[in-house]
Amino acid sequence: MSEKTMAIMLCAGKGTRMKSPLAKVLHPIMGKPIMSYPVAALKEAGINDIVAVIGHQAEAVREYFGESLAWALQEEQKGTGHAVMCAEAASPRSNGTALILCGDVPLITSETIALLLGSHRETGNLVTVLSMIPEDPNGYGRLVRDERGGLKAIVEHKDASEAERGIREVNTGTFAVSMPWLWAALKTLTTDNSQGEYYLTDIVKAAAAEGRAGSFVLADPVEALGINDRVQLAEAAGHLRARINKKLMEGGVTIEDSASTWIFPGAKIAPDVTVAPFCRIEGESEIGSGSLIGQGCVIKSSHIQEGVVIKPYSVIESAFVGKGASVGPFAHLRPKARIMEGAKVGNFVEIKNTTLGEGSKASHLTYLGDAVVGKDANIGAGTITCNYDGKNKFRTVIGDGAFIGSNSSLVAPVEIGKNAVTGAGSTITKDVAEEALGISRAPQKTIDGWKKRIEGK
Ligand code: UD1
Ligand code: CA
Repeated sequence: MSEKTMAIMLCAGKGTRMKSPLAKVLHPIMGKPIMSYPVAALKEAGINDIVAVIGHQAEAVREYFGESLAWALQEEQKGTGHAVMCAEAASPRSNGTALILCGDVPLITSETIALLLGSHRETGNLVTVLSMIPEDPNGYGRLVRDERGGLKAIVEHKDASEAERGIREVNTGTFAVSMPWLWAALKTLTTDNSQGEYYLTDIVKAAAAEGRAGSFVLADPVEALGINDRVQLAEAAGHLRARINKKLMEGGVTIEDSASTWIFPGAKIAPDVTVAPFCRIEGESEIGSGSLIGQGCVIKSSHIQEGVVIKPYSVIESAFVGKGASVGPFAHLRPKARIMEGAKVGNFVEIKNTTLGEGSKASHLTYLGDAVVGKDANIGAGTITCNYDGKNKFRTVIGDGAFIGSNSSLVAPVEIGKNAVTGAGSTITKDVAEEALGISRAPQKTIDGWKKRIEGK
């Protein structure tokens, strides 16, 4: 039989206080479900056999994680002990250790999991409780000890005497338990308690009877923060944000105001990047060294190379920005915008599915959609690619060195050749050859003495 460590994650509870049809463990923190955080911590600690016990909205939870976890259904929630009983059939038969934890503790770290398992192994315990000493022990199960300090039992708050309620060391809900002893111990549980539930915590008494129950005290109680409502959700997100930002700052990223900066866990920010206040960097974004991210930018699943300047209040989604380019303020890069090296995108410019070639500029008030712009082209203020006829989208091609006059409408499909020019205010419906001028405007009329005429003088 295997001696490996596996995990049992309890996620069957209803999560009533979230007041939501969405399963509690699927509520997102920084773009990922609550439950994905303890799953990631387990995997980081080398535990890949994870059985998740699900009940409420079981299908939605299962669908999200799919085959990456093993599943056990607890149809009726009869307590934490009963939840673990439900996991037995899906668990590998093993002489190893079961790490039992809840799916709603997003702040638990792989280091803590490793320390708990280390302590469990060293002491030869049957059960090692991850305990903590919070400021307010109310609501938690208390760790009751004998005269010699040995762990005797866990008494739930609702079942505790006045004296027991005075105990400050409490159960976090995470345990290391030896198998196959666990499965036998679960069979001895009863519902003889104030809540009429099978308490997992009662296995401590059974292990203590053999002198093999102990606890490992969590240094930072924040890691055990369980999410029951939206207040705790925001609290956990805040801790996670601070933790991510601290790691980035230690790695050489300047974060001017950590409290207002949300960098999601999948983002990679190189040393020597500066992030101004109120930025949100989501998804698997990557930002290269020396880049400056101005105040109030939202960057999602985008790749920004080295030495880029993103000026304030720009929104960038699934886009690429090459070395030394500059974007914003108030620019909008939409999916498949590719801003090549040294290019410049100015204020109130929207770019979608378009490559803006090296050194090219679109400095003011422009929409470029479904276009390819060559190198060193200049896109004048107010240029619009008319890429959509209401049914289909068409491409615009603009050659190297082209000069698009201000307020040009380029009606796609259309091609502007290398070094070609379009006159300001033109509606361009036909291709313009290399080096040519395309112009379409009504000739200007000047009427002398107009002012006097209309005023009847
Ligand atoms: C539990 C512990 C308590 C500990 C506290 C830490 C027991 C009896 N008590 O109490 O000692 O201090 O956690 O937060 O274990 N769940 C199921 N199926 C069930 C019941 C619960 O999957 O039938 C899951 C819930 O979804 C939740 C977790 O187990 O994630 C804990 O259950 P909860 O009812 O919140 O336990 P507490 O009463 O808080
Ligand atoms: Ca709880």
